[in-house]
Amino acid sequence: KLTVAPVLERSESMDQSFIQKMRNTKRNVVVFYGSQTGTAEEFATRLAKDASRYGMKGMVADPEECEMDKLTELKDIENSLAIFCMATYGEGDPTDNAQEFFEFLTNGEEDLNGLKFAVFGLGNKTYEHYNSMGIFVDKRLEELGGERVFELGLGDDDANIEEDFVTWREKFWPAVCLHFGVEATGENVNTRQYALTPVAEDLPKEKIFTGEVARVGSFNRQKPPYDVKNPYLAPIKVNRELHNGGDRSCMHIELDISESKLRYETGDHVAIYPINNPDTVEKIGQRLGVDLDEVFSLTNVDEDASKKHPFPCPCSYRTALTHYVDLTNPLRTHVLGELSEYTDKAEDKEFLQKMTHATEEGKKLYQDWVFKAHRNILAVLEDLPSLKPPLDHIVELLPRLQPRFYSISSSPKVHPKSIHVTAVLVDYITSTNRQMKGVCTSWLANKKPPAVNGTSDQDGGDGLKDLLPRVPIYVRKSQFRLPFRPSTPVVMIGPGTGVAPFRGFIQERAYLKNEGRMVGETTLYFGCRNKAVDFIYSDELSRMVGETTLYFGCRNKAVDFIYSDELSEFEKSGVLTLHTAFSRDQEKKVYVQHLMDQNQEQIWNLLNDNGHIYICGDAKNMAKEVHAVLVKILTSKGNMSEVAAEDYIKRLQSKGRYSADVWS
Ligand code: FAD
Ligand code: 2AM
Repeated sequence: KLTVAPVLERSESMDQSFIQKMRNTKRNVVVFYGSQTGTAEEFATRLAKDASRYGMKGMVADPEECEMDKLTELKDIENSLAIFCMATYGEGDPTDNAQEFFEFLTNGEEDLNGLKFAVFGLGNKTYEHYNSMGIFVDKRLEELGGERVFELGLGDDDANIEEDFVTWREKFWPAVCLHFGVEATGENVNTRQYALTPVAEDLPKEKIFTGEVARVGSFNRQKPPYDVKNPYLAPIKVNRELHNGGDRSCMHIELDISESKLRYETGDHVAIYPINNPDTVEKIGQRLGVDLDEVFSLTNVDEDASKKHPFPCPCSYRTALTHYVDLTNPLRTHVLGELSEYTDKAEDKEFLQKMTHATEEGKKLYQDWVFKAHRNILAVLEDLPSLKPPLDHIVELLPRLQPRFYSISSSPKVHPKSIHVTAVLVDYITSTNRQMKGVCTSWLANKKPPAVNGTSDQDGGDGLKDLLPRVPIYVRKSQFRLPFRPSTPVVMIGPGTGVAPFRGFIQERAYLKNEGRMVGETTLYFGCRNKAVDFIYSDELSRMVGETTLYFGCRNKAVDFIYSDELSEFEKSGVLTLHTAFSRDQEKKVYVQHLMDQNQEQIWNLLNDNGHIYICGDAKNMAKEVHAVLVKILTSKGNMSEVAAEDYIKRLQSKGRYSADVWS
């Protein structure tokens, strides 16, 4: 997940240090955020806003834009407090905007005596290094002399991070009051962060955003280099179904990058910026009686804020709802609280406000009515007809629509001019009987190249390209890499769409193998006593490209064995050793880890042969169970204790010999 809340225009006060800014504006609370998808930033904003309820004054700050060594000076501001909302990203890493701060804390020896701080971490229990960034910041600030005002809070995005946050916050503020001897001034203040600002009627069209990420007009005048803020509108030249019947769908998509100067490596991710379903947008407009084509602008009321607009402005309401805000996730409690201001019906007001309270009753109500039922903005507006919020306030409150990531399923050695994606369509029914379609995948499902000569697969030839649907993309580098030496054996575990990056890996290994073959066959008769002992130079001699093993799993061989033709070709040509687990083709479930368990000996030998292990796909269960089987293999074949086996895997990880590319 990546931050896409682009800072479109920065105020002049950017050049001031955060301490100077706090002094100039008489603030004493600063809330820093390490945010990748915007949630930590949103929590930081809510905390900064809270401060005014306690006679304090808060501001939000991005550590990337601040000289963090100035933290040493914060103590000179009376009753000052630094709050940190820190998300953990990927394999326990800091978010991009907190990278430098992380290094500053790790390597710096600043004296933070007198600094009062509190930390709320955002993580996901599905991943191994749960909340490691929040835990680290909390511990390190204390080591450097800081004083913890309240205990570390940990939010779990796999469960209900909103609830974790409100529960922590509810106890946090009384502790702050006690610490500084201040008192709550009472009611929540729902002051708006952004003001609706007039847009000149004769504003030229070229100055109005139409979905661009950062630069107005960038979709019409595409200019490399392409990146997170300047995505490339890639033509989709192939979009075909991979499943053979059944009630689910998995798409194979080929994005043409031949005219983009974009490069990728096997194992990288491609990010796609989707748009919201036009019907949903239309329904919101109708429900609120708004002319969606009206152009508007929202401007930060805090002139010192680094973010001037919540998203690119000016734009039409239709553009904001289509491109910029998240319409599909369950609403957060602060949004419910603010919406409650817009009803005349006391019963609805009370109902919404109850859900914002961190009481057992409030939390349960929120959990049941919003979270479990997956009630998003449209569902709430539909189910509470008395609500009449202005649309400009709604779009201010909703989080930014995020790009979706896909593990690239091709190798640039074989496909330098295209990026392949293997994506399963998300489509499910909520408990309130609403059909939920995945924003990105359902949008992609309709992006089919026009049929030419009876086929929908285009070769992207000149002229035809103009007819192809396009999607905004950029490439994100990953750490998921094949071994440096092709002779190193690899074992890949990727059920379902987890096979995506491995299709790229196999293409690359097949390519390398073929390259080796070009030299012509060279035969050596070699003898030694024992293969395992004195087979000298075995690595170099026995193969150009090491063994490539894939554990693939799907439900039914006949239905969702995706890429079966390609995989069996690779098998036949000796490039690939394939183990398949068809979970639903027999009574008892068979999963990839069951096959690994049966092949303990081979996996143990591979590890001894300096092999690399890769896992891709479901983070929630599969990755953990595969990990557990590896531990089992190490304990039984390697005679290790469980602790030693975990240690062994950690060492493999640090040498890049054990890598995971998993998502939940
Ligand atoms: P969204 O609109 O985002 O909806 C998805 C959400 O709906 C889920 O998060 C969940 O909250 C909810 N949901 C889904 N199903 C149900 C259900 N049955 N019941 C209740 N709630 C449900 N995906 C691939 O298909 N292929 C890949 O190669 C791939 N690679 C990835 C690599 C990385 C590094 C990451 C982070 C993710 C990857 N994903 C991949 C997932 C992908 O990014 C998207 O999350 C996925 O395609 C869904 O996006 P969407 O916009 O269609 O769905
Ligand atoms: P299932 O749906 O029949 O349970 C790709 O989704 C494949 O992964 C399917 O065959 C699915 O089986 C299987 N799968 C589900 N849970 C798994 C787990 N915990 N470990 C490994 N594979 C799993």
